[in-house]
Amino acid sequence: MPAPAPDHILSTAQDIALWRDELQAQGRRLVFTNGCFDLIHTGHTRYLQQARDLGDALVVALNSDASVKELKGPNRPVNMEEDRAEILRALRSVDAVVVFSEPRATRLIETIRPHVYAKGGDYTEESLNPEERAALKAAGAEIRILPIVEGKSTTSTLKRLACDPSKRTLRIGILGSGEGSNLAALVTAIRESVLEAEIACTITDQPGCGFHSIAKSAGIPALTVDAGTNPKRFPDHAQKEVCEHLQRANVDVVVLAGFMRLIREPVLSAFAGRMINLHPSLLPNHPGSNAVQQALDAGDEESGTTIHLVTAALDAGPVLAQARVPVLPEDDAAALHARIKEKEHGLLVDVLKNWKTLDRTGCP
Ligand code: GRF
Repeated sequence: MPAPAPDHILSTAQDIALWRDELQAQGRRLVFTNGCFDLIHTGHTRYLQQARDLGDALVVALNSDASVKELKGPNRPVNMEEDRAEILRALRSVDAVVVFSEPRATRLIETIRPHVYAKGGDYTEESLNPEERAALKAAGAEIRILPIVEGKSTTSTLKRLACDPSKRTLRIGILGSGEGSNLAALVTAIRESVLEAEIACTITDQPGCGFHSIAKSAGIPALTVDAGTNPKRFPDHAQKEVCEHLQRANVDVVVLAGFMRLIREPVLSAFAGRMINLHPSLLPNHPGSNAVQQALDAGDEESGTTIHLVTAALDAGPVLAQARVPVLPEDDAAALHARIKEKEHGLLVDVLKNWKTLDRTGCP
């Protein structure tokens, strides 16, 4: 049995130094590590267990509240030092906790003289603070860098919390090449608080189109992408640009509202399940271009609009909603399309109103 650690939740450096000498007399090794340990996650617990396994006992030097604030910013720590210490002390891997308020653990290292010093893998032996490294050398401590646990961090926990879809304003990205009536309908619905959302980004391939002027006069980000003059092509560099714009705007959902080029990778994967297209027919009837004219040519008595998720197959992703309109005998394509759009605007607002409850937001 290694000499028992000091009994209390918080130890002093002197307590630990005495204990270290007892361990040394028994031929045992004291491991030392330091950090903030705010909002413990499995990255911490696995790291601490590995550190503990490097010797016979583990002491954690915990950054005081003031030093966490200095290191991580004014909103940290979330848990105060007494709580962070108590949680650490409750872990099987941790034998003692000591709080320190200096920016470096140098003085503690000098007093405690640990046998092993463990540090997380975001450091290398060379990137350790030179002052701390010198103190470790003087104490004869072995330095061990432990692998970092990817994807686990207090910062990402906090990001997930801030991103709670039920509390977050939906961020919409919208792409269009035409008149922009759907964009206008969204702007109005947001302005009138019918839809609680923000249009975080609009993108067009046609700088002169109605869609672009509506975005500009509504004062929302109105971006253009140069996809060349051939409307049938949407080159890779432009796809990438669109993807980056949408990601930078941190959008939850992308709306294709009459965007006349075919979306491919990397946009498809980046927004899989979060990108919708508006199509002026009752899909699966009349996919592709000129859908309204196709319905007239087919002699359909009914037409309408479909909102569906975008996949690699043209106008064939899962249908989320449809609205129907009658085809009237006197209809030409323009008249029928206008009637379809009236329905489409309300349908789009409804789909986006329900988006949060569908939990398809871009939260990490
Ligand atoms: C909509 O009717 C939509 O179904 C189709 O393009 C039209 C876009 O209209 N894909 P607008 O530019 O929003 O007025």
